[in-house]
Amino acid sequence: MAARKIIIDTDPGIDDTMAIFFALSSPELDVVGLTTIFGNVHTDVATANALRLLEIAGRTDIPVAKGTDQPLAGPFGGPVPYVHGEDGQGNLHLPPPNTQAVAEPAAQFIAEQVMTFPGEITLVPIGPLTNIALALRLEPRIADNVREVVLMGGNALAPGNATPAAEANIHNDPEAADVVFGAGWEVTMVGLDVTHKIVMRPDHLAAYSTASHPLAQHIARMLPCYRNFYADYHDLTGIFTHDPSAMAYLIDPTLFKTAQWPVRVETQGVGRGKTWPAVNDKRLLPPWQNRPPLNICVDVDVERTIRLILSRLG
Ligand code: BDR
Ligand code: CA
Repeated sequence: MAARKIIIDTDPGIDDTMAIFFALSSPELDVVGLTTIFGNVHTDVATANALRLLEIAGRTDIPVAKGTDQPLAGPFGGPVPYVHGEDGQGNLHLPPPNTQAVAEPAAQFIAEQVMTFPGEITLVPIGPLTNIALALRLEPRIADNVREVVLMGGNALAPGNATPAAEANIHNDPEAADVVFGAGWEVTMVGLDVTHKIVMRPDHLAAYSTASHPLAQHIARMLPCYRNFYADYHDLTGIFTHDPSAMAYLIDPTLFKTAQWPVRVETQGVGRGKTWPAVNDKRLLPPWQNRPPLNICVDVDVERTIRLILSRLG
């Protein structure tokens, strides 16, 4: 079977880096571009990191398109150095990239790729959804021409992580998420309902440091920063495996149990960024009426998922 063409929209980010390297090492996936977004870091840093990561992977043939640096309703709440390091790479402070982003902004790149390969491109956002909403605004026909959207973000039934209500990617641009969830294309949400179950323990993570693969070695060097965050903020020995889980879904959806519910995104008050699924779909209230159901991951085979992720760089 031909590899599935994907565009990864990303804010690298330690788990973004794990996800990008996992995708690049998976024959099932053909990464046709990286588009960058604010979130874990500012968009400038995300773009430099995306370029550096492709250089480390020897894949400078893959274009990087720089995204917007502000949410739809602005302003960006700011990066999270205590999670991903000042540089988004666990404070490794890598040298500047030698390569450059393409001239088109991310939204234009996404729209052009989708319209050039109708029905073939899967969008894989693993950061805030602003670029995807801007691409829809620029070229609404992408909704009918994309293969599907598989994103890391949101929390249907689980609590949030950025706030008690909201997951970080959605919290960084709730207005964009509400646009993307209502666009009428096929959307799978790989959110905290499953990623908070997928805990890579120290014995799992050791696979990165013992592997001789240069991509695994890079991950191993970033991980102490990420592990310290989980130890300090979550009393967790290990890490939650957010962004690589979206790639795992693409490669093997049987790892996940899903439910189909329309979702609205809270844009007001203390609940800003909360994803609200209409679980009782026999009696849809007006905000959820005429909204397409999303495919929402609600449970996961944890050990098989971790084995799949580790198998590609081991
Ligand atoms: C998401 O937020 C970011 O910190 C991670 O990279 C991931 O995409 C998890 O909530
Ligand atoms: Ca991310």
